[in-house]
Amino acid sequence: MYHKGNLHFSYHKRARITCSLLSSSSFPRIFRYIILISLSLFLFTIFYLNFKANQQILSEQHNYINSESENTPHTHFETSSTNALEGHTYVELLQLESTWNPTLYKNAPVTIIINNDNNDQKNNRNIDKQLDAIFSQTVKPESIWITTSAEQEENVNKLLKEKRLTDIIQVYIRDDNSAYLQIVQQKVQTKYILLLNYGVILGNQYLQNMLYVSNTKEYNNTLLGTMGVNLSNNETSLTCYEDHITSHSTYSSDGMIKYSRTSIRVDMLTNIWFLQKQWIPILFKERDAIDLPLEFLISITLQYHSNIPSIILPTLNQESWGDVRSTSIQPVICNNLRRKFSSNTTWKHYIERGYPLIIKETSNQNKIMIILDGIYQEKYFRTLYCKLSLTRNNSISIITTGNDRGLNASELRKIIKNEKSLCGHIDVYDLDINNNNNIRSQIYKGVGHMIEYLRPEILIYAKVTKNSIFQGISSSIEGFIVTTIKLPLEEIEFITELMIDLPFSALKKWNEPKIQLQIITQNRPDSLSRLINSLNTSYYFGDDNISLTVNMDRGADPVTMEFCLKFLWNHGSKNVRHRVVQGGLLPAVMESYYPNDYNDYGILLEDDVEVSPFYYLWIKYTILKYRYGPDKHLSQRLFGISLYGQRQMELHIIGRRPYDPESIFHGTKFPDRSPYLSQVPCSWGAVYFPEIWREFHDFLVERLDDETKYHLQDIIIPNSRSSFKWKKSWKKYLIELIYLRGYVMLYPNFKNFTSFSTNHAEIGIHIHRKKDKPDPVTIFGVPLMKEFTLYDELPNNHLTDFTDLPVTDLWGNLTTFNDLINRGINLHNQISQCPPHFKKDDDLLNFSTKDILCVDEEKKRIAIQNYEKKHRAISSVSKILSDVQINLLELLINVN
Ligand SMILES: *[C@@H]1O[C@H](CO)[C@@H](O)[C@H](O)[C@H]1NC(C)=O
Ligand SMILES: *[C@@H]1O[C@H](CO)[C@@H](O)[C@H](O)[C@H]1NC(C)=O
Ligand SMILES: *[C@@H]1O[C@H](CO)[C@@H](O)[C@H](O)[C@H]1NC(C)=O
Ligand SMILES: *[C@@H]1O[C@H](CO)[C@@H](O)[C@H](O)[C@H]1NC(C)=O
Ligand SMILES: *[C@@H]1O[C@H](CO)[C@@H](O)[C@H](O)[C@H]1NC(C)=O
Ligand SMILES: *[C@@H]1O[C@H](CO)[C@@H](O)[C@H](O)[C@H]1NC(C)=O
Ligand SMILES: *[C@@H]1O[C@H](CO)[C@@H](O)[C@H](O)[C@H]1NC(C)=O
Ligand SMILES: *[C@@H]1O[C@H](CO)[C@@H](O)[C@H](O)[C@H]1NC(C)=O
Ligand SMILES: *[C@@H]1O[C@H](CO)[C@@H](O)[C@H](O)[C@H]1NC(C)=O
Repeated sequence: MYHKGNLHFSYHKRARITCSLLSSSSFPRIFRYIILISLSLFLFTIFYLNFKANQQILSEQHNYINSESENTPHTHFETSSTNALEGHTYVELLQLESTWNPTLYKNAPVTIIINNDNNDQKNNRNIDKQLDAIFSQTVKPESIWITTSAEQEENVNKLLKEKRLTDIIQVYIRDDNSAYLQIVQQKVQTKYILLLNYGVILGNQYLQNMLYVSNTKEYNNTLLGTMGVNLSNNETSLTCYEDHITSHSTYSSDGMIKYSRTSIRVDMLTNIWFLQKQWIPILFKERDAIDLPLEFLISITLQYHSNIPSIILPTLNQESWGDVRSTSIQPVICNNLRRKFSSNTTWKHYIERGYPLIIKETSNQNKIMIILDGIYQEKYFRTLYCKLSLTRNNSISIITTGNDRGLNASELRKIIKNEKSLCGHIDVYDLDINNNNNIRSQIYKGVGHMIEYLRPEILIYAKVTKNSIFQGISSSIEGFIVTTIKLPLEEIEFITELMIDLPFSALKKWNEPKIQLQIITQNRPDSLSRLINSLNTSYYFGDDNISLTVNMDRGADPVTMEFCLKFLWNHGSKNVRHRVVQGGLLPAVMESYYPNDYNDYGILLEDDVEVSPFYYLWIKYTILKYRYGPDKHLSQRLFGISLYGQRQMELHIIGRRPYDPESIFHGTKFPDRSPYLSQVPCSWGAVYFPEIWREFHDFLVERLDDETKYHLQDIIIPNSRSSFKWKKSWKKYLIELIYLRGYVMLYPNFKNFTSFSTNHAEIGIHIHRKKDKPDPVTIFGVPLMKEFTLYDELPNNHLTDFTDLPVTDLWGNLTTFNDLINRGINLHNQISQCPPHFKKDDDLLNFSTKDILCVDEEKKRIAIQNYEKKHRAISSVSKILSDVQINLLELLINVN
């Protein structure tokens, strides 16, 4: 542009000379014309060449910009605001939207501070030039300071006097980094600070660019500069980044000094820091900060404590360079840092502890953070963390608590290395907790910072009660959005495969599903106690919100009542209820569970059931896998999970028949032992899901009303014994809803019917021991899973996708969802005047029964009227009768 202006200028000057020549009247006319024409030609030629030259410059510039954005791969990095930020070229940066408005300020709200650490008494030349560069900035800063050692003070003052700047520039004495930062902390009044190393000579647009970029939403929370350093991957060498290429800065043949064409994150900035005043207190948050090189200290503390990344911006020309000299200061600084890096033990210790270097940030996906307190915990967690590190797109970071606690970062790195291919890439950090200080507060701060820095989505640690590490971690996570998984050490081995198999989105919902245990009992205290004991000794994997309610019917005996009042339940809240009017099973079961919300699951247990220690594992696994994963919409017809493996089919018209799913699946595409979906509801240990259970409640209310009062709807399930032989059983009505909707329950299918619950088939409301008949236990009883064989017995050692599960009907025959749904629709159309609210299997359900309980309104009105008339008649008769009775009674009394 500068060049172009010059050429135009000479062109105008020439034109003026020509004009004066032409106006001279003494020239013969013909000559005048000749001269005029040739001059015109001449001028045109000059003009044309000029134009061409300008065009070329423009197009070269254009090409340069183009090639930059096309050939340089854009670097991606993340800022604290979590939106992925693309690396920008110089031109792109200045096209970002910025709220910086220079017209609002007389002086820009910036304090420029030169850190004069020059020891040469006589040489003021560099400061002199540095100040000149500051005064020629296109934007004027509010204040300019020089900090200097006491020895240099006089020297600096002398220079300022010579330059008549004593009123304009403040001078502060400082001894070391700490004192330097103290001064900055205490005295700066402006919003922004530009820290300069001694001798750095700014390009004149530098300040303007920094203000512009730091007021964009992309960079407003980043530490900015134009020169920086990356620590290498293997942590033994440095790569330095220049802000312009000079013959001197490209000196190194191993590519250790580079020039960056896009904004890019670095481990630390050098020479120039553009930062916000409000960040200064953060620089004091590290214990050993004073002993670190300033470059490392600034970047590391901002990154670690506030997630403020260090970014170097690209430059284009001298105006934008951080140091305009051809022999830039960066190579010198860089060599100093290399020396310190290999010898400075404080710095080494920081690196050793795994302090946040961006070099370590592998990916933004599936971030899991694990905390290990000592070598004892490490052993329990090893398989889990190794397997997690090899799974999906997980990126695993492990935080150790340090030497005093028995495991430091380097030791853990060694262990991981020894695992070879069994372990994937894992980043290790060390909190270096000091046993002699307040452990809880150290862990509280340390974990908080690591969460702030790593932003994990999931945090896993050992559940060890009455332990200050555990308590410290638990309180430090408050206020963060992170899924915490607290595992009792001895139970980790059971949960490992589950955690590996769950989709990450389901794993993140670890704490969402809540279970309420609902026990139905009356007068079998021994059974009840066996059930509760089995529940009490099951594994809950750190979940401590399993509420347990005992629902006693009216006929509860004193032993049962006493037992209920006394037993202890430590896995969640305990509730006991007692009915005063005998309800029977239907209300007892139906009214025990009603969901609090759609993450609230009910497990219904009659007292003669007993559970396996792994029952909760089965539930946790199936619920998270099918209800909280990415394809949860596929399982909307799943109404529950059975703990019990069916070995009898009760719904044949002719009566009960033995059942073995293996014989059904054998020879089909399904594995013989695949868990399967069935329309049969299980009452011997099963989880019921909130949506469909709620729908069932609505259904039952109207269904019972109709059956006992109005008789408008006759729901008969074709070929199902439940519709012909069963009376007033909650399962009978549930089967109606299931059939109409095409709902299913998930069943286990292990060898020999091994299950998570069994029924001891004791004499009770539904089971009657008959002479000459086999003991019901031999018919219904199944072995409980006592050994940990869950994953081993599942086909391919894990739960298959929902759509790959076999679907069976009320008689245990293999079928498809489509078929089930069509059967339901057929029946629906016979019994209801409204069409079903869903049509095909992919239609979303709304879990409302309005479409089923839909009869002719007029008929309904009449039926209700008739019923009420009859009811009124009956009650008035009985009122008359009771009045008569009372009169008689009074008569008798009076007679007496
Ligand atoms: C940065 O910009 C974003 C988006 O405009 C805004 O929400 C945020 O508060 C800004 N942060 C700072 C430190 O100015
Ligand atoms: C570390 O990296 C440097 C430079 O990339 C290389 O020369 C050195 O051999 C590496 N050291 C190890 C232990 O890998
Ligand atoms: C490490 O470097 C800092 C800053 O240069 C210095 O203050 C400190 O004394 C050094 N520490 C050691 C142990 O060399
Ligand atoms: C510094 O290292 C990080 C992590 O490897 C990388 O993303 C970044 O691009 C590097 N910085 C530069 C300027 O190459
Ligand atoms: C891993 O991430 C990539 C890129 O986002 C994605 O395409 C892939 O499906 C992910 N893999 C798994 C197993 O989640
Ligand atoms: C880490 O722990 C190991 C084993 O306890 C020990 O030998 C080593 O010195 C420790 N390293 C550091 C840096 O403290
Ligand atoms: C459950 O176990 C705990 C100890 O683990 C015990 O204190 C409690 O009494 C047990 N409760 C029952 C009902 O067995
Ligand atoms: C199968 O289960 C029954 C109990 O239902 C048990 O008696 C039998 O020993 C089991 N058989 C095998 C092979 O485990
Ligand atoms: C179910 O299968 C049995 C044979 O196992 C067959 O007799 C019966 O008809 C089937 N029932 C239905 C409803 O398809």
